[in-house]
Amino acid sequence: MIRLEYFDKNDFKQLIDWVSSEELMVNWSGNLFRFPLSENSLDWYIEDTNVLPASEAYNYKAIDDDGTIVGHISLGAISEKNKAARISRVFVAQEHQGKGICYQMAKQLLKIGFEELKLHRISLGVYDTNAAAIKCYEKAGLKIEGIHRDVLLHKDVYWTIIEMSILEDEWRALNA
Ligand SMILES: CC(C)(COP(=O)(O)OP(=O)(O)OC[C@H]1O[C@@H](n2cnc3c(N)ncnc32)[C@H](O)[C@@H]1OP(=O)(O)O)[C@@H](O)C(=O)NCCC(=O)NCCS
Repeated sequence: MIRLEYFDKNDFKQLIDWVSSEELMVNWSGNLFRFPLSENSLDWYIEDTNVLPASEAYNYKAIDDDGTIVGHISLGAISEKNKAARISRVFVAQEHQGKGICYQMAKQLLKIGFEELKLHRISLGVYDTNAAAIKCYEKAGLKIEGIHRDVLLHKDVYWTIIEMSILEDEWRALNA
């Protein structure tokens, strides 16, 4: 089991170590950051986040039963008006991958989004080559809505994004 706690400055170095290649960084965060990740860019990333009750983004680290930090996940683009948000910046440390941690993080973040923040819709985008991430999100209950073809150009190759989402009633049915 994992628990989610707010990501803060003390966690920067570890995340910088995890995001060790440009390809990993693009999978993790698209074009948001310039590689390599830096403390300065993470200062900007956490600005105005994790401020209850009405932040536009909440950034979390995932901690396992041993107290080891094993992952990162964010709920951002929070729209109070539309009761919507997007899951983003999902990362599981390489040595902890394949153990269902992505699935547990997604499940716990959906619970926060639907129960605590009272959202109606939670969506995300994932590159179509990222089979592990797509499987993780499908297991957590998100459905594929469509694709954005060739949205990102990285080293002369276009990347296509799959859009996925889950609505509150679908989440409640899964967790009844
Ligand atoms: C994508 C990522 C988050 C997955 O984390 P994880 O904790 O290993 O994922 P999980 O263990 O919860 O689930 C992965 C599922 O995909 C499956 N899987 C793994 N690699 C796969 C592959 N190449 N093809 C198909 N399925 C694959 C696993 O078997 C597992 O399915 P199962 O639960 O039925 O066995 C992790 O690999 C990561 O951090 N990658 C780098 C950053 C990234 O790509 N982030 C995603 C942003 S959208």
